[in-house]
Amino acid sequence: MFAQPICRPYKRNIMLLMGIETSCDETAAAIVSSDGNIRSNIILSQLDEHRPYGGVVPEIAARSHLQHLPEIIRSALEEADVEFKDLTGVAATAGPGLIGGVMVGMMAAKSIALVHDIPFAAVHHMEAHALTARLTDTVPFPYLALLISGGHCQFVVVEGPGAYQILGATVDDAIGEAFDKTAALLGLPYPGGPAIEAAARTGSPYAYPLPRPMAGRPNCDFSFSGLKTAVRKLVERLDGDAEDTKVVTDIAASFQCAAADVVGDRTMNAIQHFKTHFPEGSTLVVAGGVAANQTVRNVLQEIADREELRFVAPPVPLCTDNGAMVAWAGIERLQANLDDSLDFAPRPRWPLDELTGARQG
Ligand code: KG4
Ligand code: ZN
Repeated sequence: MFAQPICRPYKRNIMLLMGIETSCDETAAAIVSSDGNIRSNIILSQLDEHRPYGGVVPEIAARSHLQHLPEIIRSALEEADVEFKDLTGVAATAGPGLIGGVMVGMMAAKSIALVHDIPFAAVHHMEAHALTARLTDTVPFPYLALLISGGHCQFVVVEGPGAYQILGATVDDAIGEAFDKTAALLGLPYPGGPAIEAAARTGSPYAYPLPRPMAGRPNCDFSFSGLKTAVRKLVERLDGDAEDTKVVTDIAASFQCAAADVVGDRTMNAIQHFKTHFPEGSTLVVAGGVAANQTVRNVLQEIADREELRFVAPPVPLCTDNGAMVAWAGIERLQANLDDSLDFAPRPRWPLDELTGARQG
């Protein structure tokens, strides 16, 4: 008779992780394996609950995560056709984000880790966005990542899991915030990004001259508050005319073009820095909710082609918040032996470069 093996062979070779994302207004859980197979990716959007308020209400978000997460976790297991005992680890977003939601997701993940005696990974939300390109494509380290979302707007050199260098970031609003606020000024629904993109399709990007903040400056920082103010003044000047469909689509197209131009200008600088300091790097990656925008993608593709860099943009459903990106970041962290202890505290504010070197070993 053979003795029972201590662990099943696939456990040694292939990792199977659950990833939980609850840092904003999506309740999400996914099962991903270390060979890049997304076995399930369940996302429940709370949009309808927040829409009447024109933005995410933290208290409503936290209560909704608490109510829905157990069912989302069950669905993720069922769709992947696995049970808790099959998991080799569990990951949750530990910040930055809305503290109530982050606590709900982390507590769920810690409980699963404790009960099933599997490792736990506390994942930085932007780390998950930044590493998504390696889930969908073979992207070697180091690479230049542009992270653009509702709360973040930064260039990061990704040198490895837990090793990030920030080259520049917004000094005021994030780009997604600018899309959301511009949409609100135009009477378009929340979230503003997809609404602006849809409206811009029938508008002229040359209809209204809008500023390109920071364009031509030597660093890799962003600023979007001036662009947002210019749209507000334009809407005030046009008075009631801004409700006219043609005016709305023209302003949406002009704004989107200005925002994409700013992204392009800043990316040129970041690429020069990246090429100088990381000559072995060869890839430009975009991630985060605004990476879903086709005009922004086109600008980045054009620049990457000109600069002879490979451009990688994950499929749109993996750009906005989801559990698969958290599971994948967890896999990368656990493979690098960056396990976290169960007393890891949620961090509503958490600069990405604080991870570098901080938790290794
Ligand atoms: O990454 P994400 O889902 O959540 C955060 O971590 O913030 O990003 C949400 C942001 C919102 O500001 C939303 O308006 C924007 O991404 N967004 C878009 C598009 N889809 C989502 N912005 C421009 N164009 C889009 N198609
Ligand atoms: Zn996000």
